[in-house]
Amino acid sequence: MINAHLLQRMINASNDGIVVAEQEGEDNIVIYVNPAFERLTGYSADEVLYQDCRFLQSGDRDQPGLLRIRQALSQGLPCREVLRNYRKDGSHFWNELSITPVFNDSDQLTYYIGVQKNVSEQIKAQQRLLQLEQQLADAQSELAALKMTNGANNS
Ligand SMILES: Cc1cc2nc3c(=O)[nH]c(=O)nc-3n(C[C@H](O)[C@H](O)[C@H](O)COP(=O)(O)O)c2cc1C
Repeated sequence: MINAHLLQRMINASNDGIVVAEQEGEDNIVIYVNPAFERLTGYSADEVLYQDCRFLQSGDRDQPGLLRIRQALSQGLPCREVLRNYRKDGSHFWNELSITPVFNDSDQLTYYIGVQKNVSEQIKAQQRLLQLEQQLADAQSELAALKMTNGANNS
């Protein structure tokens, strides 16, 4: 049987950030962060407690995922979005954020659990792939145009 001590060890062992937040009006107030959250963001638990996690966006608010998160939370639904977030030192990372609502026995929404996964390497690789695909498409069009010119010159 898993006891509270073992559960705590599991949360501490996670490589993904884990946040527990309580809804307070428009805000979701952080009441717990695990050590991986502190490592990922550079903020200590004391610095983030009682704040809304949106401070990690550092003013970079033009992100479609934020609207989807707002909509999901307003309906008490889980959601997963990839967001641009910023560490305490200002450096940027891609945060795959999964949020799960927690309901009590009376079906009242009591907490949200957020899991933050740093997917920066995957996003960079995807962006590089798109860039290379574009270069390949450009080179293929150039080649096709050259072949047509060559064909026209030879006829
Ligand atoms: C448990 C939980 C964890 C969250 N973690 C993050 C996070 O790591 N980064 C982030 O940008 N937003 C995070 N958010 C989302 C923001 O708190 C907020 O819901 C989002 O910015 C959309 O609402 P807004 O447009 O009112 O800011 C989290 C929300 C919850 C409930």
